[in-house]
Amino acid sequence: MKELLAETANRAARYLGAVNDRKVTPRSEDVARLERLGGALPEGPSDPAEVLALLDDVGSPATVATTGGRYFGFVIGGTLPAALAANWLAGAWDQNAAMQIMSPVAAKVEDIVREWTLELLGLPSTSGAGFVTGTTMANFSGLAAARSAILQRAGWNVEEDGMFAAPPIRVVVGQEVHVSVLRTLNMLGLGRSRVITVPADGQGRMRADALPMLDKHTIVCIQAGNVNTGAFDPAQKICMRARDAGAWVHVDGAFGLWGAVSPLYAPLLEGVNGADSWAIDCHKWLNVPYDSGIVVVREPEHLRRALSWGSAAYLTQSAGREPWQYTPDASRRARGIELWAAMRSLGRSGLREMIERNCRQAKLFAGRLRAAGFTVLNDVVLNQVLVSFGSPEETRRVIAEIQADGTCWCGATVWQGHTAMRISVSCWATTDEDVERSVAAMIRIARPPHARDPLLL
Ligand SMILES: Cc1ncc(COP(=O)(O)O)c(C=O)c1O
Repeated sequence: MKELLAETANRAARYLGAVNDRKVTPRSEDVARLERLGGALPEGPSDPAEVLALLDDVGSPATVATTGGRYFGFVIGGTLPAALAANWLAGAWDQNAAMQIMSPVAAKVEDIVREWTLELLGLPSTSGAGFVTGTTMANFSGLAAARSAILQRAGWNVEEDGMFAAPPIRVVVGQEVHVSVLRTLNMLGLGRSRVITVPADGQGRMRADALPMLDKHTIVCIQAGNVNTGAFDPAQKICMRARDAGAWVHVDGAFGLWGAVSPLYAPLLEGVNGADSWAIDCHKWLNVPYDSGIVVVREPEHLRRALSWGSAAYLTQSAGREPWQYTPDASRRARGIELWAAMRSLGRSGLREMIERNCRQAKLFAGRLRAAGFTVLNDVVLNQVLVSFGSPEETRRVIAEIQADGTCWCGATVWQGHTAMRISVSCWATTDEDVERSVAAMIRIARPPHARDPLLL
């Protein structure tokens, strides 16, 4: 075992040591070589060292270098050193995080991370939290709590009696709601097409002046950090209206809620702590390994009730927080351990530095691309940049060539009718040099050779 783990560490270190010097995307011949991992199921055992060598030799070249400093697709962070190390140790521990009795350390670490997260993000300190796989499941869990609370107030027990014949619930979303919220509404029997959609402004912010009448049967889903523009819905105004009406506000704060750790960006989140539930991502901007998210609910009993099980004699109930009562799953890995390691290693100032650096780098991208004559479509308020290189065809050509070139990776989107390239700066490892190298590649590809200005390259 000892030699195997040492060999694993060597191989992983070699991978990470080279990840910034390679193309971000794998070569097609390396992807084709993945076939070598298949074939007939072996009849008998193999030496674990050989299994590891095969996985590394064939698998590593076929990875996408998302953990390096020049991957700007979707919203994908890398992995902080302490978080990766903690992930390995937690793998060796092989803890089941469902119950205190199964893993006191996993349960304790969740308690600590719950407290630290609420403090960092300025959320109510008595809130409950569940450690889930990402924002989709955090949205699911937060909205399950909302559904349960609203129906309980209407005298209906949704956990026992389901949704058939239940009193109606109104769900309000913004025009630029993230698809994961609609997906969870579908999973909860609330229907993704039954929603009332509020128009958004040019940055994708829900227009508070266009909110419909709210009442105690309404859930309002707002967003902190639009996946395209990074813009924030006006939480203060919406939460005040909702509070007066007795409505529930759920915040999809996947990456944007982390802005609260910086005094530079916290004003964008003003009033967000007046909501009832929040969904937060940790594999994005906190830079821990996949998969990791947190659901926070102001009144923990709603989350606990919504995710409760029927009774089973062998399940334990102890004093204190039982992790399984706050997540949709039972057995699960101890993902709180990496969160603890990330927060412990960065501290408040390190986390703030990372967030502020990524936001500054997004502005650097926007400034350089604007100076080169391209159109930045959004106000760069956080870490997201949308760029048009001209016509939709030209923008799509440039994106495809940037992806093939491999200096960096950015994806495509259509923002309010305009085809655009999305740049999301979300990785602790991104340096200003990575940004300059990436911008140079973008400009080289976007401009036909005869139009290039040597001063800009
Ligand atoms: C605003 C927003 N909500 C939800 C999600 C879904 O998150 P996950 O992939 O962790 O489920 C994303 C992903 O980018 C997002 O940006």
